[in-house]
Amino acid sequence: MQQNVVSDTSRARSAFEQDVVSGLKQSQKSLPAKYFYDTYGSALFDQICELEEYYPYRTELAMLPSVAQDLSHIVPEPLDVVEYGAGSLVKIRLLLRHMSQIERFIPIDIAGEHLENAADDLRQEFPKVTVEPMAADFTAELNMPGLNGAKRMAFFPGSTIGNFSPQFAQTFLQRVRSSLGPGALLLIGVDTKKSANMLHKAYNDSEGVTRKFNLNILTHINRELDADFDTEYFDHYAFYNPTEGRIEMHLISQKAQTVSIGDQRFYFDSGESIHTENSHKYTPEQFLQLAQGAGWRSVRKWVAGEQLFTVFLLRASED
Ligand code: AVJ
Repeated sequence: MQQNVVSDTSRARSAFEQDVVSGLKQSQKSLPAKYFYDTYGSALFDQICELEEYYPYRTELAMLPSVAQDLSHIVPEPLDVVEYGAGSLVKIRLLLRHMSQIERFIPIDIAGEHLENAADDLRQEFPKVTVEPMAADFTAELNMPGLNGAKRMAFFPGSTIGNFSPQFAQTFLQRVRSSLGPGALLLIGVDTKKSANMLHKAYNDSEGVTRKFNLNILTHINRELDADFDTEYFDHYAFYNPTEGRIEMHLISQKAQTVSIGDQRFYFDSGESIHTENSHKYTPEQFLQLAQGAGWRSVRKWVAGEQLFTVFLLRASED
């Protein structure tokens, strides 16, 4: 057992190292957004969600009770729910409160310690629900616990799908469909296209929490991969790219500098950027087209006021 734990950890570390090194070797340096989420990064993300300027979280959260009530009339019983990138398990509570169909809940998150703590609290609050957390990178192919005859619904809130390129988003949605089996459902939250100013404010908050969140990816790399990024000399930069329909987050080197990661060295020009995140925004039509291409059919759509945010219920098409 111990052996397994050690090899799993070192495998995770070398994947992290490979991802970081290959990202920093590109001419446009980049880092995968999933590495924001160590324990501290997950807590910073929770702080972002408290910000008035960060409308996606509060808007979706306000939609979920009525989404859950509607779902309670539509979905079969018993139902297993698999949540991708489950974080602090706040949103599932809004489903569990209204949907007695949910028998088993499988939250998946890359921040294992944060997830285990959140799962313990959830079990206390919902003793009838079987909670089976999986500490895993949900963007990789996963071995799901076996089907137990229950129908399955994937839950992918928060517009996390927006972190993927449209092409990978389609691959991911295809994979979810084939891993959940026949009759699968998908409840997904998707952020919409809207004014560039409103988008800009959501990713450039006045308290500087998003800045800390962005910089923490470097601290995470320092700790796990024996690197020496000096966070004093990188700055947060986020903007809406209307051509790509996405927010881009970057870290900009404030001087010419060299950073070591293990025994490798990386040079940064003054003003050079590391691209750390994309957050794609979709019109409802754009998103449904993408989902249809991945073998999902629209069952229902919920739209928040002024088309601020959308939630879709999709069903796997039978082919
Ligand atoms: C959790 C990926 C949906 O893209 O809006 C928040 C992450 N980044 N502020 C997003 C994030 C900066 C968030 N997602």
